[in-house]
Amino acid sequence: MSGNIQVLMKQHPTGWVQESDFEIVDRPIPQPGPGELLVRNIWLSLDPYMRGAMDPVRSYRASLKPGELMIGGSVGQVMQSNNPKFPVGAYVVGYLGWQAYGVSDGTGLNIVDPKIAPLSAWLGVVGMPGVTAHYGLLQIGQPKPGDTVVVSAASGAVGGTVGQIAKLKGCRVVGIAGGKQKCDYVVNELGFDACIDYKAADMHDQFKAATPDRVDVYFENVGGQIMEMVFARLDTFARVALCGIISQYNLTKPEGFTGMRHLLVNRASITGFIISDHLPYWPGAIGELAGWLQQGKLKFRESVAEGLPNAPAAFIGMLAGKNFGKQLVRVGPDTL
Ligand SMILES: NC(=O)c1ccc[n+]([C@@H]2O[C@H](COP(=O)([O-])OP(=O)(O)OC[C@H]3O[C@@H](n4cnc5c(N)ncnc54)[C@H](OP(=O)(O)O)[C@@H]3O)[C@@H](O)[C@H]2O)c1
Repeated sequence: MSGNIQVLMKQHPTGWVQESDFEIVDRPIPQPGPGELLVRNIWLSLDPYMRGAMDPVRSYRASLKPGELMIGGSVGQVMQSNNPKFPVGAYVVGYLGWQAYGVSDGTGLNIVDPKIAPLSAWLGVVGMPGVTAHYGLLQIGQPKPGDTVVVSAASGAVGGTVGQIAKLKGCRVVGIAGGKQKCDYVVNELGFDACIDYKAADMHDQFKAATPDRVDVYFENVGGQIMEMVFARLDTFARVALCGIISQYNLTKPEGFTGMRHLLVNRASITGFIISDHLPYWPGAIGELAGWLQQGKLKFRESVAEGLPNAPAAFIGMLAGKNFGKQLVRVGPDTL
């Protein structure tokens, strides 16, 4: 393949997304028109929201139609430019999708500085997942020093950042993650106070022991049984930032929820949020995240798939927890 490799959604998935739901094609490299620029993608971000976009149901964004390019955030380099805001050679972050090259008129595109953070991190800790963690924890969770903060999918791109920010704010932080290796990382590398392996038979007992003062802030990433367990430990006036419910994304029949009583008796609040609704918040949050990263106060991990043809398998793997940290696809070299 030599031109513009693209990954399309071939058909809407039914239940668990399959590699056969995607199609890889080789198309001519597009040419930028007046005011436009051509970007060579270097890194592609694989994110859980893409699974929702593949379903033909009403959501907060338009759903993909069969044959359309998979949507996605990417970091790339400007190769040709008819737009003075984006000179040739500049590195940019934007939403150019699962393809090797993309043309943009500059809308939603931002120049990034690899001296501030590595190129790939602009899709992770100083990108969309980092801002999601920052907003959900600080604006919705409103953590106070000494609060117990619980976060699910704790070793992931969002969850790992949530826990570290909560530690910076003086909270006791309990993560929930799948498996001993991820839990060890969350405690030993990221500095959480405890981490519960939700695959362990005694998960409920472990969780109770790790939250002696109950839970003041819950940053929800997974839904399902884990959410039920945490809701039963909420403290009075707890805040729940409803960020995602990844355990439900591939189910044809989502699980029921029986935890309303816990919200009521604890006078707790739950707020769902979608980070793309809060664009004015992004620059300040990215500035703070980048500062913490440069001071060594934020750590992150990445799982890298090599090449666009491996993106569907990596995406399916990420939804099943095979990733360990931010899931990326290396589309091309950093420099040519
Ligand atoms: N609201 C927003 O604007 C917004 C923005 C970004 C992300 N999100 C949400 O944030 C969450 C995390 O996203 P991310 O990008 O940081 O992904 P991630 O955590 O890096 O990767 C996904 C992780 O989800 C966990 N997972 C998968 N299936 C699970 C299950 N059945 N039960 C429990 N955990 C499961 C896996 O970790 P384990 O191995 O630990 O199971 C997997 O590694 C997702 O729910 C996503 O939709 C929301």
